[in-house]
Amino acid sequence: MENLILVAGATGNLGQKICRELIKRNVNVRAIVRENGNAENLGVLEKMGVEILKLDFSNQQQLISACTGVSCVVSALAGLRDVIIDVQTELLDAAIAAGVQHFIPSDFSSDFTAMPEGENRNFDLRKEFMEKIDSSRIMATSIFNGCFADILRYNTPLFNVRDQTIAYFGDKADWKIDFTTMDDTAAFTALVALDDKAPRSLKIASFSVSPNDLVQISEQSKGSRFKLVKMGTMEEFSATNKLLRAADPAGENTLYPKWQQAQYLYSMFFVHHGTLANDRYEGLQWSVVTENI
Ligand SMILES: NC(=O)c1ccc[n+]([C@@H]2O[C@H](COP(=O)([O-])OP(=O)(O)OC[C@H]3O[C@@H](n4cnc5c(N)ncnc54)[C@H](OP(=O)(O)O)[C@@H]3O)[C@@H](O)[C@H]2O)c1
Repeated sequence: MENLILVAGATGNLGQKICRELIKRNVNVRAIVRENGNAENLGVLEKMGVEILKLDFSNQQQLISACTGVSCVVSALAGLRDVIIDVQTELLDAAIAAGVQHFIPSDFSSDFTAMPEGENRNFDLRKEFMEKIDSSRIMATSIFNGCFADILRYNTPLFNVRDQTIAYFGDKADWKIDFTTMDDTAAFTALVALDDKAPRSLKIASFSVSPNDLVQISEQSKGSRFKLVKMGTMEEFSATNKLLRAADPAGENTLYPKWQQAQYLYSMFFVHHGTLANDRYEGLQWSVVTENI
């Protein structure tokens, strides 16, 4: 049987790239999208040759029909509980009912299994969904890509071109932080979707660099040596994030409030991927740090 991969979240940044990578490999791709999906994004998918099914994500029968004949469901959905738990559970149930073999949840983060509860709200939701998958009988693969590399262009405390500073916490000036570009993540995900022997999780990184590495890189790539700034201990960072969160209850309904961005930075200094699965598939070319700053 020819592979048919279903992508949910195909109108999003990562989802669209995953579709492109699958189509490049001559794979049949079916995207499930919301009825009121953005016409421009749908046009891009259509041009690529993706089969588009507009449906109601809360309609189990529609989801089951969409999953019929599919070998792998890839979720690149983004959202809070209503998406990561509710919509993904509907999709998981439909995939199981339709006999899909393989499910890739929208994890695309650092390895959240290594993070203590309460330190990263978006990771906690993923953990909760992971429990649901693991209590089902479907084969699943979580892809842990660390942080998307484009963060290095956003003047965050980690690499601030405007202020020419590089932040670190505790004694972690040499701590290697895992970054993967969205393109590399999408290419890897496409291959995982075609891999019927993929393990429960795969860790990747286009590159892993420490704050001290970034100082060297700033000198080579930006023409001046950025200043390394210690921002306090990891314990202080964690405590500050909890205070920020408590002071902003409205942020609970927002995907990336300031405190969640800070929680993500904390995770980057907490989780290191160690052994990577970058070489699992042939033909992938991984981006390097200097292409991303
Ligand atoms: N590791 C990192 O540094 C990092 C950074 C950013 C994102 N991510 C992760 O990467 C994944 C993809 O993120 P992204 O930035 O590509 O997201 P995105 O561009 O915001 O796209 C989100 C997708 O989810 C769909 N969606 C949202 N709510 C939905 C709902 N209730 N029902 C059905 N579909 C819904 C959207 O559909 P519409 O087009 O209809 O709205 C869109 O296709 C997520 O897991 C995200 O957390 C990781």
